[in-house]
Amino acid sequence: MFQELADRYDAWYDSAHGRLLFDLELACLRPLVPPGPGPRLEVGAGSGRFAAALGFEVGLDPARAPLRVAAGRAVAVVQGAGEHLPFGDGTFGAVVLVVTLCFADDPAALLGEARRILAPSGRLLAGVVPLDSAWGRRYKAQGRAGHPFYQSARFLTLAEHRRMLIGAGFTITGAYSTLTQAPSDEPVWEQAHDGAVPGAGFVALQASP
Ligand SMILES: C[S@@+](CC[C@H](N)C(=O)[O-])C[C@H]1O[C@@H](n2cnc3c(N)ncnc32)[C@H](O)[C@@H]1O
Repeated sequence: MFQELADRYDAWYDSAHGRLLFDLELACLRPLVPPGPGPRLEVGAGSGRFAAALGFEVGLDPARAPLRVAAGRAVAVVQGAGEHLPFGDGTFGAVVLVVTLCFADDPAALLGEARRILAPSGRLLAGVVPLDSAWGRRYKAQGRAGHPFYQSARFLTLAEHRRMLIGAGFTITGAYSTLTQAPSDEPVWEQAHDGAVPGAGFVALQASP
């Protein structure tokens, strides 16, 4: 679906609603980007908006069409699946996942691979939409109603994300949250909250391998 509808997905970020949600999520991820050495990789980079804005040089995705857009944003692109990363052990100083775990066939295997390619001092950042939030429930309902993107997503609760990270061998080292507002309201700017706020619609988890 991300292959067929790459332009539509990317164009959403240029809508007023999409721009604000992008800025909110970016502000939530930014404080958790490790200052240490790169290189840095986004897995599930799509059209590369987050990779470019966060200064991640490499973006991987199974869908070729959005990667072409990402390449135009000066992201070095690699086609592939997160469950089989074509990189050596300990290659990256940081790996980011932005709303990708819920689309992966095997999110636990993807996390295992992310851990393998991280340097010991590296960090994983996982931006997730918890199912135990009004936003997660809304997206899940939209998926059930046939939404072209969300219909293939499997949303997980915050606790399930934590368990999956720990199960893959990570230690959770930080969290920020945003979208504590209701998804039914017109979105407004909010400062990212330090910590994992129960019910927040977007939570960024930082973890060390
Ligand atoms: C909701 S999009 C997010 C894209 C980008 N991170 C963003 O936030 O704009 C989910 C992305 O995950 C990718 N994806 C799906 N399965 C994947 C897998 N197994 N490994 C890596 N990426 C995957 C999709 O192709 C899609 O580009």
